[in-house]
Amino acid sequence: MGQRVRETVASAEGARIRAGARIELRRHDPANLASFQRWYADPDIASMLRHDLSPLNARQSQSYFETLILPLSARGFCWAIVDRTDGRLLGTTALTEIISRTRSALFRIVIGERDAWGQGFGTEATRLVCEEAFAALNLLQIRLEVFEHNHRAIATYERVGFHQTGSHTEFVRNRGIDLHIREMMLGKADYDRLGTFASRIPPYPVGNGADDQQDHG
Ligand SMILES: CC(C)(COP(=O)(O)OP(=O)(O)OC[C@H]1O[C@@H](n2cnc3c(N)ncnc32)[C@H](O)[C@@H]1OP(=O)(O)O)[C@@H](O)C(=O)NCCC(=O)NCCS
Repeated sequence: MGQRVRETVASAEGARIRAGARIELRRHDPANLASFQRWYADPDIASMLRHDLSPLNARQSQSYFETLILPLSARGFCWAIVDRTDGRLLGTTALTEIISRTRSALFRIVIGERDAWGQGFGTEATRLVCEEAFAALNLLQIRLEVFEHNHRAIATYERVGFHQTGSHTEFVRNRGIDLHIREMMLGKADYDRLGTFASRIPPYPVGNGADDQQDHG
C-alpha cells in the first residue's frame, strides 16, 4: 500500500540512516544517554522546549531517553544528529504524533551541544529529516510548534521552507506566564518544489545496519 505512513526496516543501534554534507542522522544508541541528560539539564535549552520549560533531572531524562527516544529511534522516527567530520554527537531530532489520515507528523529538534549552534547544523538536520519523512516514511506534511521568542529556530525553519499556519497562547502555570507559540508546516510538494535537498551525496540506504557499519570513522 503506497498510501500508508511507513515504518522503516529496523536498523542497528548507531547505524547511519541519512547523510548530508556535514552531518548525518543515525539511529540512537544507548551510549548517547549521558549527552542527552546533559542537554536536557541545561536551563537555556529547556526554556526552548516543553516539559513546563524546566530542565529535566537525571532520572527524568533517563526515563525519557529509554522509554521514548530509543524505541522511537528503533522504529525509524527519531535520530541522533552526528557531525560527519569527527563523529561527534550534536543533538537529537524526531517525528512524533503521526496522523495517518493526513500522513502528517510533528517535528522536534535539539542541537544539545551549544557550541554547535549557529553553524548551519540545525538547518541541515531539519532538511535531512524532511527528506527521510517524504522519501522514506511516506509522509505528506511536517508540522511543528515553536515559541515566538525562539528566533534562531524560526529562522532555521523558514530557511528550510516551513511557513506559519497559525498561533496560540498557552498559560504556563508553574511560571505564571503566557507562552506564545507559532505553528508551522511544510508540505512534501512545497519541499520538492524548493529543491533544497540537503544531500549532495546519495542518502545511505535504510537497512539492517550491516552496510552502515562498514565505513564508520
Ligand atoms: C534551533 C536549533 C535547532 C537551530 O539549529 P542551529 O544549528 O543553531 O541553526 P542554524 O545555524 O542552522 O541556523 C540558525 C539561523 O538562525 C539565525 N540566528 C542565530 N541566532 C539568532 C538570533 N538570536 N535571532 C535570530 N536569528 C538567529 C542564524 O543567522 C541562522 O539563520 P541564517 O543562516 O539565515 O542567518 C538549535 O539552535 C537548537 O537546538 N537550539 C536549542 C533547542 C531548540 O530551540 N530547539 C527547537 C525547539 S522548536
